[in-house]
Amino acid sequence: MLPDNPTLEQYLAYATDLANRGAAAFAAASDDDALEAARIQFLGDKRGELLVLQKGLGALPPDARRDAGRAFNEAKTTLNAALDERRTSLRSATPSGPRLDLTMPARERWRGGKHPITLVIDEIVAIFRELGFTVALGPESESEWYNFGSLNFPADHPAMDLHDTFYLGEGALLRTHTSPVQVRTLQKYPPPIRILAPGTVFRRDPFDASHAPAFAQLEGLAIDEGISFVDLKSTLTVFARRFFGPSTKTRFRPSYFPFTEPSAEMDVECRLCGGVGCSACKGTGWMEIMGSGMVHPSVLEAAGIDSERFTGWAFGMGPGRIAMLRYGLPDIRLLYDSDVRFLAQVAE
Ligand code: PHE
Repeated sequence: MLPDNPTLEQYLAYATDLANRGAAAFAAASDDDALEAARIQFLGDKRGELLVLQKGLGALPPDARRDAGRAFNEAKTTLNAALDERRTSLRSATPSGPRLDLTMPARERWRGGKHPITLVIDEIVAIFRELGFTVALGPESESEWYNFGSLNFPADHPAMDLHDTFYLGEGALLRTHTSPVQVRTLQKYPPPIRILAPGTVFRRDPFDASHAPAFAQLEGLAIDEGISFVDLKSTLTVFARRFFGPSTKTRFRPSYFPFTEPSAEMDVECRLCGGVGCSACKGTGWMEIMGSGMVHPSVLEAAGIDSERFTGWAFGMGPGRIAMLRYGLPDIRLLYDSDVRFLAQVAE
């Protein structure tokens, strides 16, 4: 405090102290509000400390006023300079707009994920791998012989109508199923053999709620001595329980494929309605998930395998249909023409 009737020395000392305290307070102001509060304290029009210093001049003896006036002016210059300096430095440190809160966690970017069909294929492969199956692949551009002839489709057989496809010329076509990988694998590796062959297949199918002209298939093949239909049924039932849950009910219905005999469709109890019947299972309570059967002897012979010695079974399923069951999708097209906002909901 400045004494009521200060001596010149007291006045000079107080002026220096005031200038120092004010400059320090301005420099320490951490934001605009703190700087304004300090400005009011030292330079305020009504009760600012500099105003008090100015008024103190009048209480000094007249011969002291010249030196005191100089000290007052110095204090005023120092304070204003310190205020300006801090104003400038705060402005350059503060971005315009909302203040940047560096403690806020950054928004995490989705780095992509596996497509639901790939997730399903990976899961199926993992289950069959425990049963001794490995993965084999074949070409999407296939010869007529591998796609049809080797698989016991007689030329012009009506079964081929269901497999109408895109012909590429010179006996080449886009494969209509993954079954040609059976023959290609058997030609290369002698039995015993257990493989899964996932891949894309092509058909002249409409693009509707349950069909797509290009879609994923997953083939399975087991060939050894003494393999019977019991092995087919039990292995596929074990798979269904592993994939869909331990209490999953399955059923096999007789069917026809030129390359298996006997043939069966495997159904699982509808996952969406629990077997009561809904639109997804067309009111039957069952969903067909694959075709299967005992490999036809002529397929083994086409691959150069002795069909008297070796037998086996095969299946073909649609991972897209299975992804619909697994994720409760009403339309298979969602898997093919949706953007990442849809896919990110199931992707890992
Ligand atoms: N290839 C058959 C299809 O696409 C499915 C199948 C594979 C059936 C293996 C039996 C054995 O329809």
